[in-house]
Amino acid sequence: MNESLVYVLNGPNLDRLGSREPEIYGSQDLQDVADLVSREAGSLGLAVDFRQTNDEAELIGWIHEAVDRGADVVLNPAAFTHYSYAVRDACALVTASGTRLIEIHLSNPATREEFRHTSVIAGVATGTIAGFGSVSYLLALRALAG
Ligand code: DQA
Repeated sequence: MNESLVYVLNGPNLDRLGSREPEIYGSQDLQDVADLVSREAGSLGLAVDFRQTNDEAELIGWIHEAVDRGADVVLNPAAFTHYSYAVRDACALVTASGTRLIEIHLSNPATREEFRHTSVIAGVATGTIAGFGSVSYLLALRALAG
């Protein structure tokens, strides 16, 4: 059986997880999250490509790559969530191509500063999962596998 492919993409500053505002984002680092994602994907029969970048252009390139490969996307856009129309337009290509894009967040931006209440991504996502720490990633994989 061919495993379906999921790109799990992470935006800026998520490479600092573990030391970055641990009271908000927890003590797990990005490698811990990648390991949990890999284990969950294995048990769900999904193949996962897990990446992080601080660079908007690189992130957009990876989203295009997912479209070209027919892969679903789990995206933590980090701060790009709130203002990047370029990332939004790339995400729109995913859902327009018939694959799924789940926007995820470790924290619940709706409970935080006002500027985090806006997501420019949400309107072109298949769905959004926020507020469950690293479990947000696992819930997204389950949604894609289900
Ligand atoms: C985040 C929430 C964003 O507001 C923030 O800029 C991040 C992380 C989260 O996972 O909770 O970098 O996407």
